[in-house]
Amino acid sequence: MKLGALRQTLAIFLVSFIFLSSIPSSFALSSPDPVRGKNAMVASQHELASRIGVDILKKGGNAVDAAIAVGIALAVVYPEAGNIGGGGFMLVRFKDGRTTAIDYREMAPKAAHRDVFVDEKGELTRGEGGSTVGYRASGVPGTLAGFEMAFKKYGSGKVKWSDLIDPSVRLAENGYVLTHRLAQLLYGYREWLAKYPDSNRIFLRDGKYYQEGENFKQPELAETLKRISKDGAKDFYTGKTAQMVAADMAANKGLITLEDLKNYVAKERVPLKGTYRGHEIVTMPPPSSGGIVMLQVLNMLEGYDVRSMGSGSSAKLHVLAEAMRRSFADRAEYMADPDFAEVPVAKLIDKKYAEERRSTIDLNKASASKDVKFGSFSTSSEGTETTHYTVVDAEGNLVSNTYTINDLYGSRVTIKGTGVLMNDEMDDFAARPGRPNLFGLVQGERNKVEGGKRPLSSMTPTIVMTKDGKPWFALGARGGPRIISAVMQSVINVIDHDMNIQQAIDSPRIHMQWLPDELAYEMYGISPDTMKILTSYGHNFAQRPGNIASATGIMIDKDGIRLGAIDSRSDGVAVGY
Ligand code: DON
Repeated sequence: MKLGALRQTLAIFLVSFIFLSSIPSSFALSSPDPVRGKNAMVASQHELASRIGVDILKKGGNAVDAAIAVGIALAVVYPEAGNIGGGGFMLVRFKDGRTTAIDYREMAPKAAHRDVFVDEKGELTRGEGGSTVGYRASGVPGTLAGFEMAFKKYGSGKVKWSDLIDPSVRLAENGYVLTHRLAQLLYGYREWLAKYPDSNRIFLRDGKYYQEGENFKQPELAETLKRISKDGAKDFYTGKTAQMVAADMAANKGLITLEDLKNYVAKERVPLKGTYRGHEIVTMPPPSSGGIVMLQVLNMLEGYDVRSMGSGSSAKLHVLAEAMRRSFADRAEYMADPDFAEVPVAKLIDKKYAEERRSTIDLNKASASKDVKFGSFSTSSEGTETTHYTVVDAEGNLVSNTYTINDLYGSRVTIKGTGVLMNDEMDDFAARPGRPNLFGLVQGERNKVEGGKRPLSSMTPTIVMTKDGKPWFALGARGGPRIISAVMQSVINVIDHDMNIQQAIDSPRIHMQWLPDELAYEMYGISPDTMKILTSYGHNFAQRPGNIASATGIMIDKDGIRLGAIDSRSDGVAVGY
């Protein structure tokens, strides 16, 4: 080898050595770099929706305006989860430091009651008439009420309501090109969607299934959105769309009436705040369980040197699983709509309480979930489809929004003549308090079905601050209760393992939900020898690995650059400028 070539080889070796040795061994090295934006960023699960959000920002709209436009666009281009027939949570941090949480979760129709989903023998109703599919599975949607409240109170005032809706009218009217993924997903849900005439016609073309690359138009949805653009949310709650929803419900033994629609209210709530190793965490309060469960786990983990344990080590996964086991037990008992049930929030997220719970964790032995009860204290003194997107605007306002119709394509019902797919959010109530639901989970009475109540959610839109109080990153996820696990582990990955937002979101994770007593894991997420150690501690691994939720987020680096990240487990595009 010539001297020059030798020098070059040595230099490459040295640079690689310095570079690699500066990266903690736990890094998911395969993650792509996050998308960079000097001014602003929108990260959502569809490129067209992210671009619509960026257009609104460029027109002078703020993050709240853009978030509304993205949400409406996803209802058109991401029908499995994007919606106006569902509900969700919009967490906002304004540039001046104020925060708010807009709760536009669905409300149970007035006619719903504790035993609405069980028969005389106490058996759960399955299929049509039950809580997961068909007309009775829907709660009263909140999306438009929530968006309108956000727009009126926190919009920039520089763009009109119609500016936020009209791009989506065009998408629904002119169509958009179906991706391989969406075409396949529609086909995969054909048996369910085919049961409802409008779903069958719109999403399955009456059996002439859509193929990748075809143009997909939704003319009825375009008409509905035109009315909403002109008349605002009132079209959906008291206008023509409301009449159509109520009529279709009445014709199909659904529970939602005109009165239920008229009575829907979005609510502004005070965000839940906690800390993890000196970083403030701003997250969603009840009716989400997400914020409480995440803060509980983080509080318990503060007692361990998680950084030294290393991100994928058996030591860390063990304490993480044990902390989750304990907080998910509390979730099943204590968490519900705070307007109907007493939720001891302050006690549950208290660091002293976490210390007590932590003291029951044996470092070399897994607890059996049947022996782990929810924490005991008096409450009397206590005064499975979703999508998350995040927006950071040029001024520094942040929106972390998760909304859902629950399962993929919700209840699978499209309301006649409207193009609106409805949610199956009634399944997030405890259909049979005290006894297992369809998935083996037992919940207490607090989350029982009651007319006007919001079902307990796991959606966890979150914003994390730097130690000196500046907004650092915002994120959220889809995936039912696994959302909480995905968000908390991403937070741990950034704070304890120095990952950037993309690496933090992509990195393998676990999920432990108390009951069933089973540790869920991801393919190649845990090495065989780590698994062996955890099994020897007594952890029961799920039979098969599977993805644990999927997240999206945005981080602001020290130079103010916005870094957008979409989970490599799912599709989506972050767009910045
Ligand atoms: O509110 C909740 O927690 C659930 N309805 C979310 C459902 C979900 O994330 C399904 N997504 N894959």
